[in-house]
Amino acid sequence: PPPPLARAARRGLLLLLVLHCCWGTLLSTASAAHVHAAGDGVIISQADYQGLQAIKHDLSDPYGFLRSWNDTGIGACSGHWAGIKCVNGSVVAITLPWRGLGGRLSNRVGQLTALRRLSIHDNAIAGAIPAALGFLPDLRGLYLFNNRFSGAVPPEIGRCVALQSLDASNNRLTGLLPASLANSTKLIRLNLSRNSISGEIPAQVAASQSLLFLDLSYNRLSGRIPDAFAGGSKAPSSASSDERKLEAIIGTYQLVFLSLAHNTLDGPVPESLAGLTKLQDLNLSGNSLNGSIPDNLGSLHDLKTLDLSGNALAGEIPESLVNLTTTLQSFNVSYNNLSGAVPASLLQKFGPPSFAGNILLCGYSASSPPCPLSPSPAPASPGQEPTGPRGGRTKKELILIIGGIVLGILILLSLCCLLLCCLIRKKRSSGSTGARSGKQSSSKEAGAGAGAAAPAAGRGEKPGTSEAESGGDVGGKLVHFDGPLAFTADDLLCATAEIMGKSTYGTVYKATLEDGSLVAVKRLREKITKGHKEFEAEAAALGKIRHPNLLPLRAYYLGPKGEKLLVFDYMPNGSLSAFLHGETVNP
Ligand SMILES: *[C@@H]1O[C@H](CO)[C@@H](O)[C@H](O)[C@H]1NC(C)=O
Ligand SMILES: *[C@@H]1O[C@H](CO)[C@@H](O)[C@H](O)[C@H]1NC(C)=O
Ligand SMILES: *[C@@H]1O[C@H](CO)[C@@H](O)[C@H](O)[C@H]1NC(C)=O
Ligand SMILES: *[C@@H]1O[C@H](CO)[C@@H](O)[C@H](O)[C@H]1NC(C)=O
Ligand SMILES: *[C@@H]1O[C@H](CO)[C@@H](O)[C@H](O)[C@H]1NC(C)=O
Ligand SMILES: *[C@@H]1O[C@H](CO)[C@@H](O)[C@H](O)[C@H]1NC(C)=O
Ligand SMILES: *[C@@H]1O[C@H](CO)[C@@H](O)[C@H](O)[C@H]1NC(C)=O
Ligand SMILES: *[C@@H]1O[C@H](CO)[C@@H](O)[C@H](O)[C@H]1NC(C)=O
Ligand SMILES: *[C@@H]1O[C@H](CO)[C@@H](O)[C@H](O)[C@H]1NC(C)=O
Repeated sequence: PPPPLARAARRGLLLLLVLHCCWGTLLSTASAAHVHAAGDGVIISQADYQGLQAIKHDLSDPYGFLRSWNDTGIGACSGHWAGIKCVNGSVVAITLPWRGLGGRLSNRVGQLTALRRLSIHDNAIAGAIPAALGFLPDLRGLYLFNNRFSGAVPPEIGRCVALQSLDASNNRLTGLLPASLANSTKLIRLNLSRNSISGEIPAQVAASQSLLFLDLSYNRLSGRIPDAFAGGSKAPSSASSDERKLEAIIGTYQLVFLSLAHNTLDGPVPESLAGLTKLQDLNLSGNSLNGSIPDNLGSLHDLKTLDLSGNALAGEIPESLVNLTTTLQSFNVSYNNLSGAVPASLLQKFGPPSFAGNILLCGYSASSPPCPLSPSPAPASPGQEPTGPRGGRTKKELILIIGGIVLGILILLSLCCLLLCCLIRKKRSSGSTGARSGKQSSSKEAGAGAGAAAPAAGRGEKPGTSEAESGGDVGGKLVHFDGPLAFTADDLLCATAEIMGKSTYGTVYKATLEDGSLVAVKRLREKITKGHKEFEAEAAALGKIRHPNLLPLRAYYLGPKGEKLLVFDYMPNGSLSAFLHGETVNP
């Protein structure tokens, strides 16, 4: 079978695009109202029908969204049952977010053996996550976030060989993190943040060969951070030849996002983290990590966010981190036990708030102690008296040092005086902290172009706001040009794809959606594409053109990292490729 679009084209930016494939990207309420041709005219199988009945029975539905699940199954696969999508009489997707559903999720969900996506996030569903989900060999996306699920994450989930995305964040899960999740070798995104999961982080999960996004923040995880991260940098010896081929094409998987913030982890920051060379976000804040900041973190040249705040890290801030100054957008080592001088370029870029709460750190703000004028060339070990008399020091040096200290104290005193004067004059003025937050621009973009509906592709979507989307840092934007929605961003990104052709402008894929329909997708090459605004304006203009000699542009997708996809009708006779390469097509 052809690999998913995601895989076939996983290189560079498309990699990231794919990763938010199946990422809770869903039909919004409004767009779901356009019942698109989900039905394939095949009567639902008996097992699936009974499975759905059991699911309905165990859920509570105060707003009556499941009222349409009322007949003897004839309507289930013809688009009449809300939130159900079938292929060949088997349920492949259940999409019921923001429906106010309560009750429990029936274990008989395990009967829906063709299920690929279960998206019931943002409801009030309680009870356990059914272990029977482990019976679903085709399950790719499991979106349970923002509910009230309790109990442990069932280890059986590790049997879902096709699972790509598991998001059960913001629930009431307890128990241990199952090591078996590492057996889901396609798992790209795992988000169990904001639960009460305890115990240690299994080394197997840390060593996962597939994970790109791992968010375990706000739990009760304890013990050391396993030193097994970056296990993905080694090729598995047991890899099949197919896997090796794939690896050769796409490069090895490696985490790009890792957050273990706000747990009770202790011990050192593992040196092996430096092996995660694709890492962009590393957040270990709010734990009890001790030891020093590993020098080799300076080799993480893609790092945008580094948050080590609120731990018990000691020693100096490694000079090697200076190398990251240009890529880093957010840096925070506040509230640790760091000592010594703050590297100048980091201080200049991030300002004093990123270093606050380290009593032994010097010279980074008016209120911190000044650094000794001539720091000893060899980095001082923590706790060492930097001004202590040393055998090799000359009198001159000593005088200089003492002079420096006196000068520093004088400057500090005068600053204090100045501050005091100001305070007295202005009485009490509200102090601005000047804190720099590492916030990403999360734009609320409106649908572009006349008649264009922009189904939400981010996870911040709410009912009734289907025209807009909140991008956030993993969102994207899919804009359709023709009336009712035939596919979502999720469908598109999860489609299987074959390469049809390549040109200087990009690569064209024949993509098969979940429901079997075909579209042609053109991924624009990064270098030749313009800024987002220009791209959107031009795509919107193109989308309005309907001419018998032109292949209509049905939609475009703008990914969170600037990936640009154009979606056209699929033309089986091959004229498509000619068109896409810039020539006009003969009708
Ligand atoms: C089932 O529900 C649909 C939509 O709510 C309604 O149009 C239809 O009449 C109902 N059918 C039966 C048999 O109750
Ligand atoms: C539906 O089933 C038929 C016969 O079992 C098969 O030929 C066809 O390919 C299936 N279609 C899809 C989209 O799976
Ligand atoms: C994980 O889920 C939390 C809460 O739902 C969310 O805030 C966070 O952005 C998610 N993390 C990732 C990496 O997507
Ligand atoms: C995971 O897979 C390994 C071998 O691939 C197997 O030994 C182990 O029992 C599996 N774990 C679970 C919990 O299924
Ligand atoms: C790190 O994680 C904590 C907890 O989720 C969050 O408050 C903080 O903003 C994160 N840091 C960055 C730089 O994103
Ligand atoms: C870090 O903490 C652990 C236990 O909390 C302790 O055993 C260890 O000695 C500490 N290491 C350092 C370098 O302080
Ligand atoms: C980073 O900076 C250090 C000195 O601070 C230097 O030795 C090293 O070569 C630089 N480059 C990398 C990739 O670490
Ligand atoms: C750094 O982290 C601390 C504690 O986690 C937080 O209070 C502070 O706002 C953060 N500062 C910046 C500049 O992000
Ligand atoms: C902070 O580090 C100093 C040495 O650098 C050490 O003496 C002190 O005990 C540490 N304090 C804490 C709270 O870890």
